[in-house]
Amino acid sequence: MILPPLIKWSGSKRSQAKQIVSYFPSHVNTYYEPFLGGGSVLGFLTPKKAIGGDLYKPLIDIWKAVQKTPGEVVSEYEKRWNFLQKKGYKYFYTVRDNFNKTKNPHDLLFLSRTCVNGLIRFNKNGEFNNSLHHSRKGISPKSFKKVVWGWSKKIPNYHFVSGDYEVITKNVKEGDFVYLDPPYFNTKSRYIESIDYSRFIKFLENLNKKQIKFALSYDGKRGTKSFIVSIPRRLYKKHVLLKSGNAPFRKLQDKKIEPVLESLYLNY
Ligand SMILES: C[S@@+](CC[C@H](N)C(=O)[O-])C[C@H]1O[C@@H](n2cnc3c(N)ncnc32)[C@H](O)[C@@H]1O
Repeated sequence: MILPPLIKWSGSKRSQAKQIVSYFPSHVNTYYEPFLGGGSVLGFLTPKKAIGGDLYKPLIDIWKAVQKTPGEVVSEYEKRWNFLQKKGYKYFYTVRDNFNKTKNPHDLLFLSRTCVNGLIRFNKNGEFNNSLHHSRKGISPKSFKKVVWGWSKKIPNYHFVSGDYEVITKNVKEGDFVYLDPPYFNTKSRYIESIDYSRFIKFLENLNKKQIKFALSYDGKRGTKSFIVSIPRRLYKKHVLLKSGNAPFRKLQDKKIEPVLESLYLNY
């Protein structure tokens, strides 16, 4: 079952989670997801044992809090949401300033639920810079409570780690499985970090050497335009293109719908 998202994260695989998971091996010891983001694949798969990680620490702090102290996550949201209704738009910017200073995960979750289109966006200094969505109130604490508790029950014994993907997967062994959804290269504006291509390719090589199965979401096609980046052929056995919906901005600009296809590379 797909849960409503806990946090809308840039590059979310929510619309493809079911298709992606259908390619996963049926038996896995520990499931690793080192580019966790909004956790849409983990939330769909719900494996027995999992290690989820991300370089962005405030995001991992959210996952840990939802897992261990869901009641507090809800009450922290409720407190901020009530203040926003009472004090008005300035309060959103007070929370935003506070988050940029302290990286409090409760602030980030509140901002994500009340900012324009729920889009988490950072400037080049890594500061959250989206504005308040004036015409919307943000999810009510009552509805948010259901989302938080729903996720909390799905992830009771998973291990969440903040750090680099190589560190997160350092103990991976044969029989485990790694799902990789790195940021596209050169996408510094969408994420805090973009990743280095040659280091990532070496990492895939090492997984192959250790006979560890992986699935990699990576690039794709929009209409006739291809964003397929070269993943050396020796590193994978299968390449599939998954339909991930239509490009909405193209729809508006050219009055034409272009299908978006995203790649999934499998080394098994
Ligand atoms: C495409 S997003 C993942 C989206 C996720 N699959 C989802 O459905 O929400 C890529 C994630 O990789 C993280 N990231 C960037 N560089 C990283 C690194 N070196 N190690 C681990 N995570 C990294 C980003 O913070 C971002 O959350």
